[in-house]
Amino acid sequence: MEIPQRNLAMDLMRVTESAALASARWLGRGDKISGDGAAVDAMRLSFAAVPVEGRIVIGEGEKDEAPMLYNGETVGNGTGPMVDIAVDPVEGTSLLAFGRPNAISVVGMAPYDTMFNPGPSFYMQKLVVPQAARDVADLDAPVPENLEKIAKALGKDVEDLVVFVLDKPRHKPLIEAIRKAGARIQLHTDGDVAGALMAIDPDCEVDIMMGTGGTPEGVLAACAIRGLNGEMLTRLDPQSSEEREALHAAGIDMKKIRSVRDLIKSDDVFFAATGISGGTFLPGVRYTGSGATTDSLVIRGRTGTMRYVRSIHNLKKLQQFSAVNYS
Ligand code: FBP
Repeated sequence: MEIPQRNLAMDLMRVTESAALASARWLGRGDKISGDGAAVDAMRLSFAAVPVEGRIVIGEGEKDEAPMLYNGETVGNGTGPMVDIAVDPVEGTSLLAFGRPNAISVVGMAPYDTMFNPGPSFYMQKLVVPQAARDVADLDAPVPENLEKIAKALGKDVEDLVVFVLDKPRHKPLIEAIRKAGARIQLHTDGDVAGALMAIDPDCEVDIMMGTGGTPEGVLAACAIRGLNGEMLTRLDPQSSEEREALHAAGIDMKKIRSVRDLIKSDDVFFAATGISGGTFLPGVRYTGSGATTDSLVIRGRTGTMRYVRSIHNLKKLQQFSAVNYS
């Protein structure tokens, strides 16, 4: 038996809080580049306090086009364990730019060499269900059959279910099939990490997430899903001939179904997300004049602990010494 260990997800929460506080200033201002830039700067500075030797596996892109938090960059203060890190300083940049719900700042972390590296893959098909339905979900089953089995495992009728789907033309047949089966739908323009988190949180009205979204976002969400014993079944789903050719050239299997355990190969996973725009899921940043309030979700996989943390920040005090710009 061991005495309680440090929960590194609490350190990660300070990183996502910082990015959320800096980027929420850009809410609804129609400028997703500046909103994302503010979050990247804040997140990178805040990582200096995290006691890990971190390697970014899911970052802002290749070094040439992303000067900070690029794939392969080393972060953390170098004193702790070697870890793989997935970041999205603003997940849902358009949601932030247009002041729509569910823009969040997210970080996931797993032991070194346990995180799936998507290489040139941009898109993957995803099916996310909570723990109670993890043994019945089937990526290749027809939609009505899947919904039937998942509903039964959750102790519900199909008509009770709410399925989160990104509102994209590619999902027209999926949306029709879900409607025909009798389940209810939440359509969101962006933000399928929030969608996946809602699906695995028993307190959220969303039960399932279905459809194709970003591959990096899938790996990020996998950190939380693995931590809470849910399931995410995925298959790479290139959306252009260039993407397909790049995957082919890299020798990556496009037919393989990857479960959450293939995406994150360890239980010792940490995850934090902080709300930026007010959402149906996490409340957004509220500035109060002298400070701000944030709400975060914090998960430690080894214990399966999930925390909702509300933080009251004194920006007047913080701004006297912090290198991060929150004004
Ligand atoms: P960004 O934060 O990079 O704008 O991503 C938002 C997002 O909606 C993700 O949540 C989702 O996985 C992906 O984009 C879907 O991509 P697309 O809009 O090209 O279908």
